[in-house]
Amino acid sequence: MPEAPILGSINMVADLSAASDFEKKHTPHIEVSSETGITLVSITVGWDVPHPNQPDHYITWIEIFAGEAPVARFELSPVVTAPTVSIVVDLDPGTVLRAVQHCNLHGLWAAEVTL
Ligand SMILES: [Fe+2]
Repeated sequence: MPEAPILGSINMVADLSAASDFEKKHTPHIEVSSETGITLVSITVGWDVPHPNQPDHYITWIEIFAGEAPVARFELSPVVTAPTVSIVVDLDPGTVLRAVQHCNLHGLWAAEVTL
């Protein structure tokens, strides 16, 4: 991930249980499931509080990083796609997985999990 994002600073909520609805609707929710040697990572924006998905306010993209290394990037269109993406990864246990999303009105938001 670039150290100085072109689109501004990245918002990251430390305690989601104490977060506002505004923070909850923008913070990526990361789910990891491992079965039969396959690790499936799913990212949803608007897990607890749905984020708008209209032409004037929507999630434009979601990126996934393993540590500092880019893993995947998903470009989204408003209305016809939901801000949920999934991908199979092959990463070592202990790897920090980061999801970053961009809202066209409210900038960059991130969350992390350790595999
Ligand atoms: Fe937004």
